[in-house]
Amino acid sequence: METGLKHRSVLVTGASGGIGAATVRLLNAEGAHVIAAGRNQERLSALSKETGCETRVFDLTSEDDVRSALSDLNPYGVVNCGGWGGEIATPMDANIEVFDKVIDINARGTLLVTKYASQRMVESGKGGAIVNVSSQASLVGLAGHVSYASSKGAVDAMTRVSALELGKYNIRVNAVNPTVVMTPMSEWYWGRDDIGKPLIDAMPLHKWATEEDCAGPIVFLLSDAASMITGVCLPIDGGFTAV
Ligand SMILES: NC(=O)c1ccc[n+]([C@@H]2O[C@H](COP(=O)([O-])OP(=O)(O)OC[C@H]3O[C@@H](n4cnc5c(N)ncnc54)[C@H](OP(=O)(O)O)[C@@H]3O)[C@@H](O)[C@H]2O)c1
Repeated sequence: METGLKHRSVLVTGASGGIGAATVRLLNAEGAHVIAAGRNQERLSALSKETGCETRVFDLTSEDDVRSALSDLNPYGVVNCGGWGGEIATPMDANIEVFDKVIDINARGTLLVTKYASQRMVESGKGGAIVNVSSQASLVGLAGHVSYASSKGAVDAMTRVSALELGKYNIRVNAVNPTVVMTPMSEWYWGRDDIGKPLIDAMPLHKWATEEDCAGPIVFLLSDAASMITGVCLPIDGGFTAV
């Protein structure tokens, strides 16, 4: 498959985390020029040493930070992967400060990066592709996920609206909706047998996703092989939301 990503510049947020770093590695293997973003400079530097990627440190909750970090970039592609899991709580006992924070990072942060990156992409006139990392939690009701699911539901909605608005500039916008990946974000909860086993039992493929299982579809959606695909939310869920 020809990805067309060689020498193209791709910004990946959340690159200091599990799924983001796997995406950086795969993009690097495809010959893309990667700008890896996050807050943890140490982890980004290690990834840079390994892959040669450029790095940017910024906080997704600060519009000033995002604007200035993106001011000298001219990306062809963007992966909005930075995110936070929030808490496990019912609607009756949800902590509203946690709700605000998870919306701030996951939904508002995705919109901020999309806003400042797409301005540059439109100016360049070369088209491009954005992939938002959402979650299966936005597609079905998962107990305890009221705040996180709300933030990812917003990401799915902004994916569709952005696809509509940016299509005329040949910029495609899609989302991926992974099931559980055993990164630190999810391990403490889904790693519990009483919590994780019912999900694994119900899922047709009966296994957790890996970081690499997510990176492949993300890179596919960025690539020329997906040139007619925009506005979709693609589950990477072993069939969990299909049954
Ligand atoms: N793990 C799962 O089960 C799962 C399933 C479905 C979807 N997802 C989604 O996949 C994405 C990546 O998650 P992951 O599993 O790779 O988790 P992870 O290893 O915990 O990584 C989270 C990433 O988000 C960054 N981040 C968090 N808050 C930030 C902020 N305020 N500003 C800038 N960056 C921030 C972190 O950066 P620093 O560490 O540098 O602060 C880190 O790079 C998230 O959007 C998550 O919601 C995860």
